[in-house]
Amino acid sequence: MLHSINSIIERIGSGLGTFNYNTKNPVHNWYKFTAGFSNKFVDEIISKENPSNKKDFNVFEPFAGCGTTLVSCQTLGVKSFGNESQRFLIDIIKAKLDWDIDINKLFNYLIFIKEFVETNKKDFDLNIVVNPLLISLYKYSNLKTLYLIKESLENIKQEKYKLFFKLALSQSLHKLSIFPISSPYISRNKRNIVSQSTWDVFSSIVTAMYLDTTGLPKYQKSSKVYYHDSRKKNIYINDNYCDICITSPPYLNNLDYGEVSKVHTHFFNYTNNWNDITKYVRKKLVTGATTHYKNSDFVIGDYEKSEFSENNKDISQYLLKIAQQIRIDRDIKKGKKSFDLLTLYYFQDMYYVLKEIRRIVKKLNGKAFLILGDSAPYGISVPTTEIIGKISRNVGFSKYKKYEIRKRGLKWRNHKYRHHKVLSENILVLE
Ligand SMILES: C[S@@+](CC[C@H](N)C(=O)[O-])C[C@H]1O[C@@H](n2cnc3c(N)ncnc32)[C@H](O)[C@@H]1O
Repeated sequence: MLHSINSIIERIGSGLGTFNYNTKNPVHNWYKFTAGFSNKFVDEIISKENPSNKKDFNVFEPFAGCGTTLVSCQTLGVKSFGNESQRFLIDIIKAKLDWDIDINKLFNYLIFIKEFVETNKKDFDLNIVVNPLLISLYKYSNLKTLYLIKESLENIKQEKYKLFFKLALSQSLHKLSIFPISSPYISRNKRNIVSQSTWDVFSSIVTAMYLDTTGLPKYQKSSKVYYHDSRKKNIYINDNYCDICITSPPYLNNLDYGEVSKVHTHFFNYTNNWNDITKYVRKKLVTGATTHYKNSDFVIGDYEKSEFSENNKDISQYLLKIAQQIRIDRDIKKGKKSFDLLTLYYFQDMYYVLKEIRRIVKKLNGKAFLILGDSAPYGISVPTTEIIGKISRNVGFSKYKKYEIRKRGLKWRNHKYRHHKVLSENILVLE
């Protein structure tokens, strides 16, 4: 009873699918991530599934995000393997997993960075390197120091320390921005009070991160992350290798991860404009937003002949009907977004991810725990959790069960232009 899914939901509460808890927990709070879930959920599932603390217990995480599952597993001494297809997040996760930091080295590097900034300040021409978006978010002098700190990191040979500072720099971008930059998008109608100097912000984040590491269990690397798209086979993770999968896929809610991380990806030179975000970020993700594709690329005949449709005939017919209904309601409401296509693409992509989960999770007693939100594009109900449960049966899982965590969308109920459907957020368990 103590470990039934319902009792876990009761203990953690409605914040289970959110990042709220993590903001108070060491390492988990190093990177602010709107789409993260609770590390407490991971801890509870592991103690449920591995009560005797077996050494050879392996966890798979196909959507590593900011690394919640991987960090939790490592803290508990459990082995875990994750995929994440946003390049920028890979560095964040690696920094969070490499927490054995030596104070003397850290201090010496910090002195080096400070000296680098001081020495190069006068001659450094920000106009040559800077992106217009960044100019609009930071005071000129702050941005100059942020860039100089970034330049200085190129001289740090030890990857672990370089990534540690890079993570601290990414959080300085939040603290120093004139507008909140990830709520989840840039909110230009709100303002942050920026009173500290860039150096004070950066060095205090570095110090807080270091202090966090001093209270952690003895360092032992047990988690690994791959820069990999989970719709494809990751050849570095063997078939039948993991006991369980713990994850939260993107929801079918039009959250554009490329937009969410663009301040960081522009600053760290992974992208420079909209086209780069599409090419280098959106295309590598499960289709979760209408910005991921061009409507003209969708060919219904190809969809009907696809592997997904062939292996999920009833579901694909059902989705085509939902898509048609979405189109009708969109036209009535004079909407512009192609949520009809998004719905079709989303489940097709999730089918490939489920196949990969199925391949990696052990055939005997393997389980997957997914946190998912239902959706209602243009007011048409899409029971996402149930549909994913059904697709999972077609890739080889024998049964699925859904547990409701909370109702969603209640605060928008009186909004004039929004649908009035109450949605739910759920845990889906596949066996
Ligand atoms: C809901 S978030 C997961 C958050 C995670 N549970 C945490 O607490 O940090 C989904 C993540 O999946 C990643 N993602 C989306 N599509 C992916 C794909 N095809 N392969 C790997 N990662 C993907 C996104 O970049 C995002 O970081």
